[in-house]
Amino acid sequence: MLLKRCLDQKIFLFASLLFTSIKFSHAEIVDNGKLVILDGINYYAGGIAVSKLVPLPSFNLTFTDGDLVPITVIRSDKDKFTYSDMEEAISNFTQSDDVFQQGFMEAIFLSYDGDGRGHIEISNFNDKVLHASSSYHPQGHVVGANLNSHIPQGPYFISPSTGNIYEAFRLYPDHQLAFTEAAISDGNGGFKPLPAVTEGAMTKSVAVPSRLYYTPSLDKPLAGLRLGVKDIFHLKGLRTSGGNRAFHDLYPPRNATGSAVQRLIDMGAVIVGKMGTVQFANGDNPTADWVDFHCPFNPRGDGYQAPGGSSSGPGAGMGSYDWLDIAVGSDTGGSMRSPGGMQGLYANRPSIGAVDLDEVLPLCDAMDTAGVFARNAQTWHTVIHAWYQNFTDYRRYPKRIYYSNSSFPNVDTDAGALLESFVVKLENFLGTKRERVDISTHWENTHPTEAPSNISDLLNTTYATLVSVYQYDNLALPFFADYAKKHDGRRPFINPGPLARWTWGQDNEGDTGYQVALKNKTMFKNWWESDGFGVAHKETCSEGIYLYPYTTGQTQYRNVYFSAPTAPPMGFSDGRIGPLTGVPDFVVPIGEVPYNSTISLTTEFMPVTMSFLASRGCDFMLVNLIRELEETRILKPVETGARMYPQ
Ligand SMILES: *[C@@H]1O[C@H](CO)[C@@H](O)[C@H](O)[C@H]1NC(C)=O
Ligand SMILES: *[C@@H]1O[C@H](CO)[C@@H](O)[C@H](O)[C@H]1NC(C)=O
Ligand SMILES: *[C@@H]1O[C@H](CO)[C@@H](O)[C@H](O)[C@H]1NC(C)=O
Ligand SMILES: *[C@@H]1O[C@H](CO)[C@@H](O)[C@H](O)[C@H]1NC(C)=O
Ligand SMILES: *[C@@H]1O[C@H](CO)[C@@H](O)[C@H](O)[C@H]1NC(C)=O
Ligand SMILES: *[C@@H]1O[C@H](CO)[C@@H](O)[C@H](O)[C@H]1NC(C)=O
Ligand SMILES: *[C@@H]1O[C@H](CO)[C@@H](O)[C@H](O)[C@H]1NC(C)=O
Ligand SMILES: *[C@@H]1O[C@H](CO)[C@@H](O)[C@H](O)[C@H]1NC(C)=O
Ligand SMILES: *[C@@H]1O[C@H](CO)[C@@H](O)[C@H](O)[C@H]1NC(C)=O
Repeated sequence: MLLKRCLDQKIFLFASLLFTSIKFSHAEIVDNGKLVILDGINYYAGGIAVSKLVPLPSFNLTFTDGDLVPITVIRSDKDKFTYSDMEEAISNFTQSDDVFQQGFMEAIFLSYDGDGRGHIEISNFNDKVLHASSSYHPQGHVVGANLNSHIPQGPYFISPSTGNIYEAFRLYPDHQLAFTEAAISDGNGGFKPLPAVTEGAMTKSVAVPSRLYYTPSLDKPLAGLRLGVKDIFHLKGLRTSGGNRAFHDLYPPRNATGSAVQRLIDMGAVIVGKMGTVQFANGDNPTADWVDFHCPFNPRGDGYQAPGGSSSGPGAGMGSYDWLDIAVGSDTGGSMRSPGGMQGLYANRPSIGAVDLDEVLPLCDAMDTAGVFARNAQTWHTVIHAWYQNFTDYRRYPKRIYYSNSSFPNVDTDAGALLESFVVKLENFLGTKRERVDISTHWENTHPTEAPSNISDLLNTTYATLVSVYQYDNLALPFFADYAKKHDGRRPFINPGPLARWTWGQDNEGDTGYQVALKNKTMFKNWWESDGFGVAHKETCSEGIYLYPYTTGQTQYRNVYFSAPTAPPMGFSDGRIGPLTGVPDFVVPIGEVPYNSTISLTTEFMPVTMSFLASRGCDFMLVNLIRELEETRILKPVETGARMYPQ
């Protein structure tokens, strides 16, 4: 047996000593689970027992207090369970689960889940101790035992001295610094920080449960999907950092999980931790702007390109870790789409109002949305359908493609050729031809009479004003006040990016400017829906699909200095349509293009991605279409690591 007792992670929390009348209160001791190494792999065995084997298991080994033995629970409805059934089960487990390994066969518990009573036809299984439930006929050397509560099949740890059974979590190192804090369930509807670390420079460990514990169902279509959440969403039991150290330390662990993330949990997703964010979901660039936290690492190319932001941790984690299935971020002005573009992932900005954003740090409520990252359209489709409740499931697709003509790179560039080839395939798939459009010209010809004819005169500062003023009023001011109260009137440290934005907002008409910006936004939104390219359609939800490239394989080196941030981003571009009009903007990976890396001194590859826009509320139509494009191999799932599509 190679189970080593590595590090007893029991943490003793001593209740504060009460010195009144020289009496001590009782010390409060919390069993926080154990970190164990099984055949060279790190595991966390939760402190909360999920079942108990009675009577006590029998092992021919001697144990000391607190020892754990790996055990595999196998369930079968086969009337006769044979040696080859056992081998098949093990082979199934090995193929479908990264937590299970042969070491868990140290002990085996068989349970017959069919009608009547089953038979075990195994005389000896590699000299391992075989326990079987009373749903099997007694058989020679098999030890009869029962679980005191139902648990799914899969790998577990059992305490030989109590019979208590604990779930097995595999520990993976967060070597890309994608997480701000790893977490596990507290067994009570909330979460606790994961009390386990293995090795690595600045590296946390993240614990994932066995995939064998979960089976998707109608009620729980997301069962077992491992989910990381951007650290602006409050989770009950954990602090929220917002990418700011002072903010993290000032407020206690949160007492509620917001309804958006709670819905994913209710649908079966499993929280594994909180992930990196640009400070307060603004726009810091690595590395100089990231003063408080270090920026997560994008695995693509040479590994030293920016991950995009502000959902940098979810994007970097999804690009890096096979053991992470989905990650949630937010998008106000590109915070889902930009990491989606830089890592080459499926990444959506949903229609405004797709989910409620209670218990989430705000940037600007008129534009804040929550989206999800996936590496394939199939998973993305499942999550989007399960998550967003108020959309109609359109199965017919628009017959018009609005092609943002001046946004596309020349077709004789690598990225231009990839994008062009994709658009041709989409034309064939939809049975239509693109219309080359230009928003500025179209606006000039059809704009409302009370608006300026140059769209940039209307919208140049609209987004900038909305985000800088709203967040100052709704996050910065209360934060400053709470912090000052606790720290003798001091102001907390704020990264240069958000500080410059908040200052700019106050210097540029503040709340008055905000009202004007809202009016300009509404004017543009109304035009987009009536005369622009966001007109609704009875059968296809949206009259057309507006296409523009999101990333074209550009590099953004982390080790290059740039000028200090002075203001929020100005100007109008394709990427501003979603935030200003509330329509969905879905980014999908198209391919990758080479560049000569100044880091690795060799050819590396960066992602090329396409944005799909449709009318407001057409999120299901878009994701249905994108899934079909993957089914017909026009789009392909991406892999983790340096290459999206390894050769
Ligand atoms: C324990 O060891 C003894 C002696 O080696 C053997 O007879 C017995 O079958 C073993 N028990 C189990 C449960 O393997
Ligand atoms: C192994 O997996 C296959 C395919 O999912 C399934 O049909 C079979 O019943 C599984 N066998 C066992 C022993 O679990
Ligand atoms: C959570 O705490 C806030 C104040 O910090 C309080 O207003 C709210 O009622 C609490 N909610 C729950 C569910 O306890
Ligand atoms: C969905 O629609 C219902 C009924 O109109 C409404 O109560 C709910 O708030 C909506 N949910 C979201 C997330 O918009
Ligand atoms: C589309 O853009 C290309 C290059 O930017 C330009 O040459 C062409 O005239 C444009 N076509 C239309 C219809 O705007
Ligand atoms: C709109 O205004 C901007 C900024 O003044 C200018 O660069 C652009 O050329 C103008 N566009 C048109 C179509 O006149
Ligand atoms: C947009 O606004 C900024 C800040 O007022 C200004 O510096 C810039 O010239 C404007 N750009 C355009 C195209 O109007
Ligand atoms: C709003 O639009 C007007 C033009 O109608 C423009 O002068 C003003 O700068 C815009 N302001 C904002 C904050 O969008
Ligand atoms: C990389 O550098 C080589 C040699 O200078 C050049 O021939 C090649 O075109 C470059 N490749 C890219 C993708 O820039």
